Amino acid sequence: MINENGKYEIEIVDFTDKGCGIGRLDGLAVFVEGAVPKDRVIVEITKLKKNYAQAKLVDIIEKSPLRVEPACEIAGICGGCQIMHVGYESQLDIKSESVRQTLKRIGGVDESLVNEIIGMENPYGYRNKAQFPVGVQNGEAALGFYKKGSHEIVPCSKCSIQHDINEKITAIVKEYINENSIEVYDERFHKGNMRHVVTKIGFTTGEIMVVLVTKAAARLKGVEKLVDMLKNEIPGLRTVVQNINPDKTNRILGFKNKTIHGDGIINDYIGELKFNISPLSFFQVNPVQTKVLYGKALEYAQLEGEETVFDIYSGIGTISLFLSQKAKKVIGVEIVEDAVRDAAENAKLNGIENAEFYAGKAEEVIPNLYKQGIRADVAVVDPPRKGCDERVLSVLSSMQAKRIVYVSCNPATLARDAKYLEENGYTVENVQPVDMFPHTMHTEVVCSFKRV
Ligand SMILES: C[S@@+](CC[C@H](N)C(=O)[O-])C[C@H]1O[C@@H](n2cnc3c(N)ncnc32)[C@H](O)[C@@H]1O
Repeated sequence: MINENGKYEIEIVDFTDKGCGIGRLDGLAVFVEGAVPKDRVIVEITKLKKNYAQAKLVDIIEKSPLRVEPACEIAGICGGCQIMHVGYESQLDIKSESVRQTLKRIGGVDESLVNEIIGMENPYGYRNKAQFPVGVQNGEAALGFYKKGSHEIVPCSKCSIQHDINEKITAIVKEYINENSIEVYDERFHKGNMRHVVTKIGFTTGEIMVVLVTKAAARLKGVEKLVDMLKNEIPGLRTVVQNINPDKTNRILGFKNKTIHGDGIINDYIGELKFNISPLSFFQVNPVQTKVLYGKALEYAQLEGEETVFDIYSGIGTISLFLSQKAKKVIGVEIVEDAVRDAAENAKLNGIENAEFYAGKAEEVIPNLYKQGIRADVAVVDPPRKGCDERVLSVLSSMQAKRIVYVSCNPATLARDAKYLEENGYTVENVQPVDMFPHTMHTEVVCSFKRV
């Protein structure tokens, strides 16, 4: 008999897709935050349901060999890296296996088609974008990260998955806020001003953007001093922007920007391609693995130079521009109009003339293109977590695209869509997971489908 608040000894046998340990008690699945497969632990049941229980980790009796000392002072406290306490090689094994099992269970995909995940040589300092909430602690400004499951700020001067330069930038902004008595935003009362500090770094160019997110539109008091301090101490500083977010919202950035220093953008490269990055534009956060991911997508597309390629869910056109170098023509489709504008500008910036972009819902634009007689020989899809709209897959199958390359950030919806495609004239050829987010449970996957 299992009781709520009762203490039990269990062995952890698996991980959930959020990095929570799973054990079994008389056949009941018990979810234990902070536990790792192969741990023997004492847990206290905090929630008992018919089909599962949640439990608190009380003690580790036998440590799993997968455990390591996390390389971060706030690991386990901040909500960022769920599995930094697992060795990197083991993280990779867990992710490969998780993709295999998900694709098999939901999509009926043969496990042998799933390659081992491509990991990073150095899985630290990989992020090119950081977002630090600003709060007050002990009467002083505090910049850090949100505590897991809350909006309480955990001060942190050094985050090991971010670029080292952030340590200096946050220290300078903190000093500026304190010395100039800048009001800090308090989301409970929607009062105060300074909300977040966002940094973007071009890993290839070394260019840096600092974005100060404020509630009010007025220029920040003494901000010239801050710019001077940043210019003196941050090599590569290209621009400082004030972003205005007057709303009572969890969304970090508002829609208006005022450039305080420089020209409001930075540039970076993925491979040979150059991109303009503005405060609001989406850019993949791990540039090293992005190149690997797009390289795989291009390889799986098997282009010979004569194809019309659809890049569906194209964002700022990064994949489209990669593909355009090997295709006759690329058509990108994206719902966010600003992103479509960025995509067209990025094409120009790189002298690419065979890529065009349509703004709109893919599930409406793709059927319209088909009605006009425009067809894809090859299609690349890179949908958000909820996967592809079935209307998109249905039209791709009607137009008999000879190959579909699916870039996914959610193996479960990829598996669902793989099942649909397998039932509608396609077969899975190759599945390649890529580790874009070391120390978290997120996995990106490239999967190629061939017309049968
Ligand atoms: C995972 S991102 C991929 C972006 C891009 N391919 C890249 O690698 O940077 C998914 C994109 O789909 C867009 N999107 C979401 N729903 C959409 C829809 N119904 N139709 C078209 N685009 C959509 C989002 O705005 C986002 O840019």
